[in-house]
Amino acid sequence: MENNNKPRVFSGVQPTGNIHLGNYIGALKQFVDLQNDTDCFYCIVDMHSITVPQDPKQLKETTLDVAALYLAVGLDPKKATIFVQSTVPQHAELSWILTCNSYTGELSRMTQFKDKSKGSESAPTGLFTYPLLMAADILLYDAKFVPVGNDQKQHIELTRDLAIRFNNKYGDTFVVPDYKGIEVGARIMALDDPTKKMSKSAENIHSRISLLDEPSKVKKSIMKSTTDSDGIIRFDVDEKPGISNLLTIYSVFTGKKIDDIVAEYEGSGYGQFKKDLVEIVNGGLEPIQSKYKEIRNSEELIKILKDGTEKASAAAEKTMKRVKEKVGFISL
Ligand code: AMP
Ligand code: TRP
Repeated sequence: MENNNKPRVFSGVQPTGNIHLGNYIGALKQFVDLQNDTDCFYCIVDMHSITVPQDPKQLKETTLDVAALYLAVGLDPKKATIFVQSTVPQHAELSWILTCNSYTGELSRMTQFKDKSKGSESAPTGLFTYPLLMAADILLYDAKFVPVGNDQKQHIELTRDLAIRFNNKYGDTFVVPDYKGIEVGARIMALDDPTKKMSKSAENIHSRISLLDEPSKVKKSIMKSTTDSDGIIRFDVDEKPGISNLLTIYSVFTGKKIDDIVAEYEGSGYGQFKKDLVEIVNGGLEPIQSKYKEIRNSEELIKILKDGTEKASAAAEKTMKRVKEKVGFISL
């Protein structure tokens, strides 16, 4: 189940545009941090993205965009298996089997479904069954850890419930995964409204910093970001969500502790702090953007994805054999 005794890790990102600092801090950066000590599988989950309408031409492009970003942030294909979900059909296959072992009640309780469907009777079915496909992604690879932002925690809990239920019903089959959160940055907030999470789809482009934003756009978004009127740099998520969010971003990009940053800026105003943060973020994005440009249209990218499909398929097929045997599907 494990390679070289290293624990298995699985995670995925949807191939939609505007991969932002929340995605980077909550997910991608963790992917990179984990690649030396784990046997990791990182997926571009295109099947999840079609739960809402997508332009087919654009979907192909954003799939390659996200694959290129995986490499640009520092994932090494020699260490991590990088692949596209739809190229490994076992994801859909296991998803169906899990669907038949789940309840509509538990899916209706998923807050992401409730938010996205807003109680409408005409909500797409795929939005409702989305967490079952996500559970299939994770369980197919015997993943022990799932590095994701805090908005996905409920989906991981459902995955655990499904794995435990299946194991009880059919005998030991799945590894029960754990949510792998981080202390700082599991939920990066919107720059224009720090009570909401930073999202790919918000209308205001200054609500987020995308990894491919130009330096001048980054500057504008940070300088315009909503803070408060008391002018004191202090970390307090409830009372001062705006400045706390900026401190989090500062801390992740510099590796400095939040307390140390607060001490460093004692007595200075938000203006100086924001200016410094602009430099820090642009400095951090620069190497990502140049690596991205180098690899995005290369043959190498396609080769890496093909190799990823091959490795992922082998692992997925092993699990499916086990699962089919348990549920009573014949093999000929
Ligand atoms: P998605 O864009 O929904 O495919 O999300 C990809 C990854 O980014 C998931 O692990 C999310 O939990 C994480 N993520 C998305 N938004 C944020 C945010 N604002 N703060 C921290 N992590 C996030
Ligand atoms: N649902 C996740 C999101 O929107 C993406 C995702 C799909 C995922 N399958 C996964 C994350 C498996 C971790 C593991 O962010």
